[in-house]
Formats: sequence, structure tokens, C-alpha cells
Amino acid sequence: MLDTLWKNTELDTDSADMSWEQFHESSKTGRYDVALTSEQVLAEMENLYESLPYNNFPPIPLPNTLSPIDRKFSDIVLSRVTPREFKPEHISLEQLRTILHLAYGETRDNKNNPYVRRPFRSAPSGGGLYPLELYFYNGGHVKGLEEGIYHFSPSLNALHFIKPGNYTKQISKAFVEFQSHLAENLSLLIFITAIFQRSVFKYRNKGYRFCLFEAGHVAQNINLTATALGMGVINLGGFYDRKIDNLLELDGLHHSILYMNGLCAGSKNGEQL
Ligand SMILES: Cc1cc2nc3c(=O)[nH]c(=O)nc-3n(C[C@H](O)[C@H](O)[C@H](O)COP(=O)(O)O)c2cc1C
Repeated sequence: MLDTLWKNTELDTDSADMSWEQFHESSKTGRYDVALTSEQVLAEMENLYESLPYNNFPPIPLPNTLSPIDRKFSDIVLSRVTPREFKPEHISLEQLRTILHLAYGETRDNKNNPYVRRPFRSAPSGGGLYPLELYFYNGGHVKGLEEGIYHFSPSLNALHFIKPGNYTKQISKAFVEFQSHLAENLSLLIFITAIFQRSVFKYRNKGYRFCLFEAGHVAQNINLTATALGMGVINLGGFYDRKIDNLLELDGLHHSILYMNGLCAGSKNGEQL
């Protein structure tokens, strides 16, 4: 029995690149790892933005309301599917706000908590450190917004319009070739990025894993919200990271793209067209 188990877990010695194994091993928590004190954590949090301020870009307020959702929760979860054909239709500012707020918006302030001073968000976060940032590309399908790239500020419930213009061609070249056509067929493309220092200063290498976990939480919030609003949603890992980092003007080392979600209002309830 043990022999069989060992066979199942045997390392594949033919693999060309084992760096994932090294990463996994070095990101394990050890009993003798020294944790920072609460004071040290709080002091470092004071040095870090809870969300990038983009002070040179005046905030564009988002609505305070949420789009009504009257579907049963179990139906929403069970009907989520990756559509394979897309027809971009317009989405409203209220739908955009619903997606961003349920993805990673602020839900509760935290003023009286001595250990975690950041307001809580719709997604869970290791240590309440919120290492992620959300950006999106509007290729002309969000009513009331100019074409271009925007940053979402959870604390202001607002957008920063950081790059006006049409970037559809540039984005299609940033997707792996088999899905380059996607860029022009989406109503909205959301970028989930991480500022790793916000997590790794406390959790070291495991903090990097936490950033990835958290991106999954945010992406699932986007999946379920889009499905609830009757939109198709696709999770995207097949992109050239450095091209997306360039597009968003991220350094790619301390702050980098992790994951993307494409939304398409033309795909009813996420079903294939
Ligand atoms: C981490 C991750 C990355 C993915 N990347 C892509 C992608 O780049 N392109 C794509 O067409 N689908 C992508 N998908 C979607 C999967 O292909 C899809 O979820 C899977 O086939 C299961 O089908 P379902 O979503 O309809 O249940 C990705 C899914 C995940 C979870």
C-alpha cells in the first residue's frame, strides 16, 4: 500500500524545469520561522498604500447602488460556465460598479480593530493586507466611460482614468495566439495585479502564495457576479505577462499582473451563444 502511495507521489525526474518544486518547498511555513510582532506589522502597513492613490488622476466617482440580482445563489454557482463564443454588448456604469465592488470593494470599516486597521473587503485576505489592485480596459462598451484603461479605487469607490485610448490591438497581441481574437469581443477586461511587498513583508515566501490565493478569491467573485448579471465570463491565464505589465505600466517585479477576467454582456447567463 505504502509502495503504491510513494509511486503516486514520485517526482518526475524527466521534467525540464523544476522551479515550481523549489518554490513550493521554499514557501512552506516552518515551525521555527520567526514571525513579526503586531507592532512591526502595523509599522510596515503604515508605509504601504492600502490601494494605489494615482494622485495625478482625478477620481471618477462610481454609483453607490448595486444592480439588482434576483437569481437563486445555487443557480448562479451551478450555471457559471466559460462561454466559447462572444458578442460584446454594452454594460452600464451600475453593472460595472456592481462587478468591481463585489470583486474587491470595501465592505466594513475597521477603525476600532487594534490589529487590522485596513477596512475589510468583499474578498478574504491573508492578514487583511489586501495586496491586489484591479484595473480594467474599456474598449468602448461601458456606457458613459471613454475608451481606455482604468484603475479601481476601493477606498474611494471611484476610478482613475490612467490611459485614454484604444488598446484592443495591443491587448490582442498580449494574449497567447489561439485566443488573440478575444480582445475585440469582450465588453470588459479586468486585470488582477499584485503588489507583493504588501503580503511578503509579513508572510515571506508564503505571502507570494497568498497573493495567488487572493487573486482566485477575487476572480471567483467576478465569475459569480457576472453570471448573476447574465453576462458571460472567462478566466484568462493565457497571456504574455510582460506585455500586460507594459500596458499597465507596472514594473513587473514588485507589481505585476497575475490573472485576468474577460466579461461579455452578449453571452446570456454565461451560456454559449
Ligand atoms: C487559472 C485558469 C486559467 C484559465 N485560462 C484560460 C485561458 O487563458 N483561455 C481560456 O479559453 N480559458 C481559460 N480558463 C478557463 C478554463 O478553460 C475553463 O474554466 C475549463 O475548461 C472548465 O470549463 P468551465 O469554466 O466552463 O467550467 C482558465 C481557467 C482557470 C481556472
